[in-house]
Amino acid sequence: MAEQKQKKQSYKIAWLPGDGIGIEVLEAAKIVLDKLNLKAEYIHGDIGWDFWCKEGDAFPKRTIDLLNSVDAAMFGAITSKPVKAAEAELIPELKGKGLIYRSPIVRMRQLFDLYICLRPTKAYPGNPLNFKDNIDIVMFRENTEDLYSGVEFNSVPKELSDVLAKLSKPFDKFKNLKETEYSISCKINTQQGTERIIRAAYDYAKKFGRKKVTIVHKANVVRATDGLFLEIGKEVAKDYPGVQFDEANVDAMTMWLLKNPNNYDVLVAPNLYGDIISDLCAQMVGGLGFGCSGNIGEKLAVFEPTHGSAPKYSGLYKVNPIATILAAKMMLDWLGETEKAVALEKAVADVIKEGKARTYDMGGTSKTLDIANAVAEKLLFK
Ligand code: NAI
Ligand code: MG
Repeated sequence: MAEQKQKKQSYKIAWLPGDGIGIEVLEAAKIVLDKLNLKAEYIHGDIGWDFWCKEGDAFPKRTIDLLNSVDAAMFGAITSKPVKAAEAELIPELKGKGLIYRSPIVRMRQLFDLYICLRPTKAYPGNPLNFKDNIDIVMFRENTEDLYSGVEFNSVPKELSDVLAKLSKPFDKFKNLKETEYSISCKINTQQGTERIIRAAYDYAKKFGRKKVTIVHKANVVRATDGLFLEIGKEVAKDYPGVQFDEANVDAMTMWLLKNPNNYDVLVAPNLYGDIISDLCAQMVGGLGFGCSGNIGEKLAVFEPTHGSAPKYSGLYKVNPIATILAAKMMLDWLGETEKAVALEKAVADVIKEGKARTYDMGGTSKTLDIANAVAEKLLFK
């Protein structure tokens, strides 16, 4: 199964801090991994905004080569700005090269086919930011297709509008628009891509004794692609009689989640809905300081906090590293280091419950590395 490997004597782990607070939260994660005595070689990889400015590439080939050679990767955060070719001309190092900025995270997911975005949401007791008690939801978000396929037209070429006018009745109302008067982003969902994410969710539910999988969609309106998602969901569910089948429209889901989050267990969704719903889930258990995520494929998995580089806090060592420490816990799970993963999660839960070490977002004054040290102190692992 894609989400767990066989335990090894020692590991090679790519260490990709990125920009801003990405560097600080990875430093915190390293403190707890060292305390856990994980036998690993951590190899630094260049990624992010600085490399775009210097080299015109935020995800250089040497980092791609590194990711091809490791067991797993930890990623901090990057600064990501939509830079057009004209703006790149203003950066002296990039002048005359005709470059545009492309997000390294999206490229990484596509290049390594990291098709599962796994996002657990747990309300740890004692967290003053919890929306309700006992929330424990796991989201499986499809990570490579859907509206994020990248097939987009800022202005619509005539060849394309001619075909659409011929094949699609609803296109009638757009067919007289000029090329530059509208844009198209394609939502592309494949049978294979849909089936493998839904199977991953069901395999996980079966393995970890989860009771229910909810298929998130909008099949009543977006009939082709979401219809496919729901139909495949129903088919796959038949192979897992021990797991309850459930399905919900994505819009209604946002209300029901707020009304009764305890009603949900494992969720599986196409890329965009998964992105939105998992942010909502993260906010219910403390927000960006708690949102952790694994981008998982058959050969590689990259673990990260879901927040960005928070430029206004960069260099202050003020932000909450718990999301990143929990991402490290997910990496341990994936490597098959179950004992260490369990110990780390318990240590985090103890620190939260005790409430002595808290960063600003939790109403405290502790610094990033204070939290890491408080978690490390709870780890009596040999
Ligand atoms: P952000 O997630 O970096 O920060 C927004 C705000 O959330 C911060 O100003 C801070 O108040 C709070 N916050 C974030 N992380 C926190 C933490 N660990 N503890 C406590 N509070 C925290 O989002 P923003 O400001 O919209 O984006 C900044 C840069 O990051 C942009 O360039 C954006 O494109 C990029 N970004 C990168 C992501 C990634 O690397 N995966 C994801 C999201 C944004
Ligand atoms: Mg997001």
